[in-house]
Amino acid sequence: GFRGQVTLDGPSGTGKSSVARAVATRLGADYLDTGAMYRAATVAVLDAGVDLDDADGITRAVAAADIRIGTSAAAELVLVDGVDVAERIRGAEVTRAVSPVSAVPAVRRLLVDRQRALVAAADAVVVEGRDIGTVVLPDATCKIYLTAAPEVRAERRAGQLGVSDPARIAQIAADLRRRDEYDSSRADSPLRPAEDAIVVDSTGLDREAVVERVLDLAGTAV
Ligand code: C5P
Repeated sequence: GFRGQVTLDGPSGTGKSSVARAVATRLGADYLDTGAMYRAATVAVLDAGVDLDDADGITRAVAAADIRIGTSAAAELVLVDGVDVAERIRGAEVTRAVSPVSAVPAVRRLLVDRQRALVAAADAVVVEGRDIGTVVLPDATCKIYLTAAPEVRAERRAGQLGVSDPARIAQIAADLRRRDEYDSSRADSPLRPAEDAIVVDSTGLDREAVVERVLDLAGTAV
């Protein structure tokens, strides 16, 4: 079977998570959703009542929290101080606050250390995020950067949320754009493809086609 690390980076709404889970399952590999870690950290910050431009307060809240993340593609496990927050981290409140929290360098150092420890414990793992190929695992076996046209990304996200009203789809598109701009322009670990990443554009491809493409790339990278 596959041994090594597949990294999947890219902006929101590219289908990254569902592709990463499917690839992990097909490879018999572990799966690590680093976005879920930043979202769980954001829950800790919101519950501590810290201001989103107080970098020190944010760092203290994240450092004090007991954040646990599962590494199975089959079941999502996200705990903050023993509370199951798997649903809450997908909500609008967390989604709005996650980019400022994840732009704090000390928060990234804390979470990147844990990501590397989880990866080191696995023989085979698929890791998704924004900076996995560039910063977290520069020596990964196979690096993928997943993109898709902005309209397609907004429609996919709307589909996941069960939204069909054009005005709300436009709002979702604006939110995606704002988060991508924030993630791409931050000083620490901005969203961008690693030099040795293979860019896969999922515009016009269904999920299964993207999964097959990634499995091909992972197979030839071994
Ligand atoms: O992937 P997901 O949309 O759940 O990520 C949520 C947010 O977490 C991103 O918009 C980004 O701000 C942050 N993130 C990050 N680095 C990662 C993964 C996610 O900064 N490796």
